[in-house]
Amino acid sequence: MRVLGIETSCDETAASVVADGQLVLSNVVSSQVALHRQYGGVVPELASRAHLDAVIPIVDLALERAGLGLRDIDVVAVTRGPGLIGALMVGVQVGKGLAIALDRPLVGVNHIAAHLYAAQLTEAPAAASPTPDALPVAYPHIALAVSGGHTALYRVDSPLAFRELGSTLDDAAGEAFDKVALMLGLGYPGGRVIDDLARGGRTDAVALPRAWLGKRKFDFSFSGLKTAVRTHVKAHGVPEGDALRDLLASFQEAVADVLVEKAMLAAKEQRLHRIVVAGGVGANSRLRALLTQRCVERRVEAVLTPLRYCTDNAAMVAGLGYHLAQAGDVVSPFTLDPDAGLSRSGAPA
Ligand code: KG4
Ligand code: ZN
Repeated sequence: MRVLGIETSCDETAASVVADGQLVLSNVVSSQVALHRQYGGVVPELASRAHLDAVIPIVDLALERAGLGLRDIDVVAVTRGPGLIGALMVGVQVGKGLAIALDRPLVGVNHIAAHLYAAQLTEAPAAASPTPDALPVAYPHIALAVSGGHTALYRVDSPLAFRELGSTLDDAAGEAFDKVALMLGLGYPGGRVIDDLARGGRTDAVALPRAWLGKRKFDFSFSGLKTAVRTHVKAHGVPEGDALRDLLASFQEAVADVLVEKAMLAAKEQRLHRIVVAGGVGANSRLRALLTQRCVERRVEAVLTPLRYCTDNAAMVAGLGYHLAQAGDVVSPFTLDPDAGLSRSGAPA
């Protein structure tokens, strides 16, 4: 079954064709980062307009790279939320139009569930399971979804059944990276820049707080950490050279330490031995290294979603769309609406 996925929830216009929920035949992502950079964050109205311009050419390119025509598509899958309403609207309308014109089933995909699924994707035919329902990353497992818009821990029982164990009380982890980068004049978005600049810095150079949150042990808070960086900068000025590297390495360590420890604790409490990391911040090299190291120490399997499927993409939407279609979770192209606040909690697992 070939599923065309469309993703326009934030600032990436993306389309992809995935066979049987796993084999990625094409994965096209057009980023609007350059457009939003001058504003230091995503401007919703500009995002919607840029999606309008890009979405049809991106869908065409995804089909061309897959070597397919529109009629070869069996199912249309589109992100319906959570995200920016105007941005979601663009993808949803295109998905509806294609489903009606081609007379194909339409499925509406939860963006977070798609992130949680992304580790199942592959481009190598040999790596795809012979039976689509025997997936390479076994269930149940713990998933840590960390991006610019969300930071949460989940117990995941299947592609469609997951339960939120905790989430951020304030900033998402990616937001903390982006705000600290802006504070230090490093531009937007800041995650990748901080990751690169922190290399070689001393992770214990600046004492920064970790919010363990007592009883709310699976929730997160990054606003105190952000304030601590601001206070440090006020006292010492904006650092340069080695001092900048040290501050960034210390900040990154504080974020990664909390994310990894809480994921390990969730695995222990749920008696699970596998942790999947996904979402844009899941691309962070220190987070990946620390998770791998602590998982080895505690005999837990660390599953690192490939970098190209960590940040927003439509392959994860098409991949999960396959399972929705198989489950008969098809929606009418005449009534599907985007839902900016679509639950991040998923179906009860
Ligand atoms: O998943 P994503 O592409 O979009 C959302 O759904 O939010 O995540 C984007 C976020 C941004 O905040 C960006 O700064 C962060 O992911 N990010 C990183 C890295 N690459 C992207 N954060 C830390 N380290 C990275 N290497
Ligand atoms: Zn995302």
